Amino acid sequence: MGKLEGKVAVVTGAASGLGRASALRFAKEGAAVVAADLNSHGAELVVAEIAAAGGRAVYQRSDVTSESEVKALIERAVREYGRLDITYNNAGVIGAMGSIDSTSEADWDKTFAILTKAVFFGIKHSVQPMRKSGGGSIISTASIAGMSGSFRLHAYSAAKAAVINLTRTAALELGRDKIRVNCICPGIISTPLVHGGIPGGKEAIDPLIGKAQAIQRAGQAEDIANMALFLASDEASWVTGAAMVVDGGFTAGQPFSLATGGLDQPGPAGYSGPSFERG
Ligand SMILES: NC(=O)c1ccc[n+]([C@@H]2O[C@H](COP(=O)([O-])OP(=O)(O)OC[C@H]3O[C@@H](n4cnc5c(N)ncnc54)[C@H](O)[C@@H]3O)[C@@H](O)[C@H]2O)c1
Repeated sequence: MGKLEGKVAVVTGAASGLGRASALRFAKEGAAVVAADLNSHGAELVVAEIAAAGGRAVYQRSDVTSESEVKALIERAVREYGRLDITYNNAGVIGAMGSIDSTSEADWDKTFAILTKAVFFGIKHSVQPMRKSGGGSIISTASIAGMSGSFRLHAYSAAKAAVINLTRTAALELGRDKIRVNCICPGIISTPLVHGGIPGGKEAIDPLIGKAQAIQRAGQAEDIANMALFLASDEASWVTGAAMVVDGGFTAGQPFSLATGGLDQPGPAGYSGPSFERG
């Protein structure tokens, strides 16, 4: 029996990357999935893949920046499958990039609308149907970029930090309803979001991002889907208000010592005493 047997899940950004992997994983574990995205073609492919594997899924075209469309998305889950147990607010973009003095108000607002306001809508409209279901699990994709600064990604980093604290405040309020609210902070994951706009794409970037953290491979969408599955399942029944870091060790520190010659050099060894004795 699957870990999500009998449950109904909404996944936003389900056409690609983390959302796609999570929708497939949820369905494989027995959940009925409402796959939401602006990318109709990609989302329909995911729905077809789930159906071909014997699972249940439908596509709902939704712009997560629109409150009425997010409300309609949640209503579709209840109409189609009779209840709501899991909402995964995952859709995203990188948004505004570049120096802070050149960042426009419009790009700032668009970034926050997709990354933060959409999460508010997803949480808000999940509350009533989850109360009716006797509880539920709301998951959002934040980022390790929300835990420290990100070079020239001012809006992204700030928006993801907001998702982490919105997760905490919602968790405090909704615990009494047995609604758990958590977010995932992925490290650098090999998805179209990261490949896009980089010369050479996936082939060029994956070897580089594979060296950035303790575990020397590029993060995969399935690494995040595994955490989403845990948070969605009853195994996480005492986990709420958490920002779960899944980053191959990126936030633990750099797996090399610049002081001893760079990325591929062996690090320091032996014993280093007081600096005045070392000459
Ligand atoms: N890839 C990474 O390294 C990484 C790291 C940390 C966090 N994240 C976050 O993970 C989430 C998923 O990113 P991904 O890497 O899978 O990217 P992706 O581009 O592969 O997938 C994102 C999906 O969101 C959809 N989307 C974008 N705007 C939307 C909107 N307004 N309404 C509905 N759907 C919309 C896109 O069409 C796309 O299918 C994002 O929130 C992103 O910020 C990604």
